Amino acid sequence: MENQDKPYKRRVRYKGKYPKKFKEKYKELNPDKYSDTISKVIEKGSTPAGMHIPIMVKEILNVLQIKPGQIGLDATLGYGGHTQEMLKCLEGKGHVYALDIDPIELPKTTKRLEEGFSKDNLTTMLMNFSDIDKVTKEQNKFNFILADLGVSSMQIDNPDRGFSFKKDGPLDLRMNPSSGVSASMRIMQLTKIEIESMLVQNADEPYAKQIAEAITSAKKKGIYIDKTLKLEKIISDALQFIPIASRKHDIKKSCQRTFQAIRIDVNKEFESIYNFLEKLPDVLTSGGRVAILSFHSGEDRLVKKSFKRFFKEGLYSEISSEIIRPTKEECFSNPRAKSTKMRWAIKV
Ligand SMILES: C[S@@+](CC[C@H](N)C(=O)[O-])C[C@H]1O[C@@H](n2cnc3c(N)ncnc32)[C@H](O)[C@@H]1O
Repeated sequence: MENQDKPYKRRVRYKGKYPKKFKEKYKELNPDKYSDTISKVIEKGSTPAGMHIPIMVKEILNVLQIKPGQIGLDATLGYGGHTQEMLKCLEGKGHVYALDIDPIELPKTTKRLEEGFSKDNLTTMLMNFSDIDKVTKEQNKFNFILADLGVSSMQIDNPDRGFSFKKDGPLDLRMNPSSGVSASMRIMQLTKIEIESMLVQNADEPYAKQIAEAITSAKKKGIYIDKTLKLEKIISDALQFIPIASRKHDIKKSCQRTFQAIRIDVNKEFESIYNFLEKLPDVLTSGGRVAILSFHSGEDRLVKKSFKRFFKEGLYSEISSEIIRPTKEECFSNPRAKSTKMRWAIKV
């Protein structure tokens, strides 16, 4: 009788030893609590979830030659690893302006950096680097500029943002989710021919025709490609004709390239880089230095062309004669550095 009077209380559900959600899964997402876990993950050659390991720091600082009192720009703040190294070189004198278009990561990075550096030396701004001239309108020109193109590890690793086909998530792929259209919407807008040429132009995809065909036929059947794994399956099903020996490997590569191509498109990456490169000579002081890290041939082509043209026109006094690559040791300890290409230029 006594038991019947008691209100029924639901038993707390067992959460399981292995949490499935990204936010619960990785101790690294709580860096203050688990700093020892972070060190172990880095030692193993992986990037801890929610972090980004800065690439080619030594080489960049060597090119930029930052001195106390100077003013500089980090066009791609990300996790702030490079910004932090620039700030150290300033020794408390001078200023770094740091831009990013990611409204999710920018406040976190700003908070972390402001714990170690004074606001007198650092300003972070939610801004596209194609608008660098707007920063210099209010400030002096820059002695040094860095752009570390592409996406951050935090963006890739967070399935909610849809950058990776390794985990299911909304097919979004926007660095700023409140601007433009998501990847799934964009796919709905494009015709077969447009998808094919996007895959070729943005990622040199050898199976562009077959993938465009498969996406278009899925759309015709009324399938809304709104999830990362839905797109991955469409690509994988379309490429089953590849000989078994290389099928798994080739499909993975095609998925990588397809996601890269769509990401470049929805974020209008080439337009932003082009505008940034066009404005660069104007925002640098005389003798000002710029270093750019790129991660695929489309980006590097734009950088190379622009540096060469402005060198010929006499706006740059010196440019890197060839690509600078990360050391073998760096690629070993941080595999995400492998495809990095660095170029630099100096304003007359
Ligand atoms: C490779 S990460 C930079 C990592 C950073 N150097 C670090 O050490 O953590 C690239 C960053 O650039 C940002 N980004 C990409 N395109 C941009 C643009 N057009 N304007 C401003 N930021 C951009 C991305 O949101 C991302 O956070």
